[in-house]
Amino acid sequence: MIDHAAPGRRWDPIVRITHWTIAIAVLANAIVTEEGAAAHIWVGYGLAAILGLRLLWGIVGPAEARFSAFWPSPRKALAHVRDIRAGNVTRHASHNPLGAMMVFAIWGCLLTIIATGITLAGPVPWAGTEYQQEQHSVSAGHGRQSEVEEGEEGKEGEEGEEGMLGEIHETAANLLYLLILLHLAGVVFETRRSGKQVVMAMSPLGR
Ligand code: HEM
Ligand code: HEM
Repeated sequence: MIDHAAPGRRWDPIVRITHWTIAIAVLANAIVTEEGAAAHIWVGYGLAAILGLRLLWGIVGPAEARFSAFWPSPRKALAHVRDIRAGNVTRHASHNPLGAMMVFAIWGCLLTIIATGITLAGPVPWAGTEYQQEQHSVSAGHGRQSEVEEGEEGKEGEEGEEGMLGEIHETAANLLYLLILLHLAGVVFETRRSGKQVVMAMSPLGR
């Protein structure tokens, strides 16, 4: 967790803005947009760009936002668990060692979702997927017989490599939902345990 020796200390604006825009994009694609629709893909490309900015910031940003400040280490994570059990509240210049593991796990999931999503979507976001277009032409009204045939073709087209990518995309999304629940539980736990205003430090408002 960010060091709160100085009251009102905040993460830098890039970390705060990318955090909340990534959270909004993930929720939008998980809840609002239709899977594989053009809006889902647009949000997906936006998400990719914002994550790209945050990862670049991990190299060139201020010290506490850099990967080097919170590189995951099982040894440090175990030491942190011992601190928690002993009731010691220690200061960390960046994410605490357990939080650091969570951050990299979330980023790993996001990168998997983005890589499979972009491969499935192709380079033209406004077109939607082939699958969506087929569904559209089916519902555009052909004879009953041809609807059945096209529906079957659509199903076949989904199998093979694309079906596999879709499975990976969906599994990584489900894993991400689980990680987000753990992330929120971790934030609540750390706030109660340490009394530090960790959410305020990520607040999009203020300097
Ligand atoms: C964290 C954000 C995202 C979430 C939660 C998410 C979630 C999902 C889910 C649950 C599906 C249905 C999978 C299936 O049934 O096969 C899906 C489909 C799809 N998503 Fe995403 N997605 C996200 C990001 C992206 C991104 C970044 C892209 C591309 C830029 C993308 C492109 C697609 C495409 C093309 C499909 C249709 C796959 C198919 O036709 O089998 N998604 N998404
Ligand atoms: C879809 C939802 C969310 C995702 C994907 C997500 C992801 C992340 C990531 C990747 C980080 C690391 C930030 C960085 O270094 O760039 C982070 C940190 C953080 N998140 Fe979230 N987050 C989500 C929702 C939330 C919510 C709703 C809250 C507040 C209630 C929250 C509170 C925090 C806090 C306080 C930190 C900083 C933890 C620390 O001080 O080490 N997050 N989150």
